[in-house]
Amino acid sequence: MDDEMPWRIFEPVDTGGPLPWYTWSKRARSILERFAETTPELEKPKQIRVKGAGLYAVTWTLSEHPIRDRTLSKEIDLLANALFRFSLPPSGLILLRDLFGKKIDGEVIFLLFALLRGLLSKRAPAFHAPIEAVPVLRSGFPLHADLFPVSTLLTIFDRVPTAGSASILMPFRQFVEILENLQTMPKVVKGKIKKLIQGREGDGYDELIHLLYHRRHSWQKELDQVLKRKQRRIDLHGGEGYMLNDRAWLHGREMQAKPVPFDRLQRLVFQSEKSG
Ligand SMILES: [Fe+2]
Repeated sequence: MDDEMPWRIFEPVDTGGPLPWYTWSKRARSILERFAETTPELEKPKQIRVKGAGLYAVTWTLSEHPIRDRTLSKEIDLLANALFRFSLPPSGLILLRDLFGKKIDGEVIFLLFALLRGLLSKRAPAFHAPIEAVPVLRSGFPLHADLFPVSTLLTIFDRVPTAGSASILMPFRQFVEILENLQTMPKVVKGKIKKLIQGREGDGYDELIHLLYHRRHSWQKELDQVLKRKQRRIDLHGGEGYMLNDRAWLHGREMQAKPVPFDRLQRLVFQSEKSG
């Protein structure tokens, strides 16, 4: 990735709400609009497995320099650099809006993430993880951390139901307070959960989901109730999303009444400069 004068990939949008909203900076949007025009000439991304990255190491990828226009190819390098360097606020989360436009849609983001993944993976493993279609979600995706070996998670929604389900978020700090006050959960389990999220052992996703939500556990009902009461609900639709530190915020989605397609969102997981 080449260096140039620093510029930001996202700029704040003043909405007056409690959480910070951002959108593409002018420069990033202009690069993306030009990228959108070249997408018909791109090969189809392939799925590969990232070595040594555990069970969920499958990712979409594109070869490193598939764009014929040299100037644009260089600009995409700079975009990857700007994404790598973007600093989340100390809270570890930004919400994103107005990411789609006349030329930029979910398909363009799908191709962009496949390309950025390769460029970002020069620094550390990066994943543009495929999303499975879900016929009918009875329980939604309760609060969780993805626990990839790297922790910056950029999610952009595409085809999500227009009503009746929202994204859910909770800072890790608040989640720990809830765990500490949970009467029904043994101390040793609380310790295990905190270690799974904060430790660097990786690939603890299945164990985390099991410990938090398996019906067999005596604490499941109490935990579920308190999380549902305290989680933040944010309606996020196509062209909106978030970037967060997966170890500082838990995320999820409420129950949805309709089937959700595999292109409901695009997800890029990588190591940013500040996430070390
Ligand atoms: Fe997730």
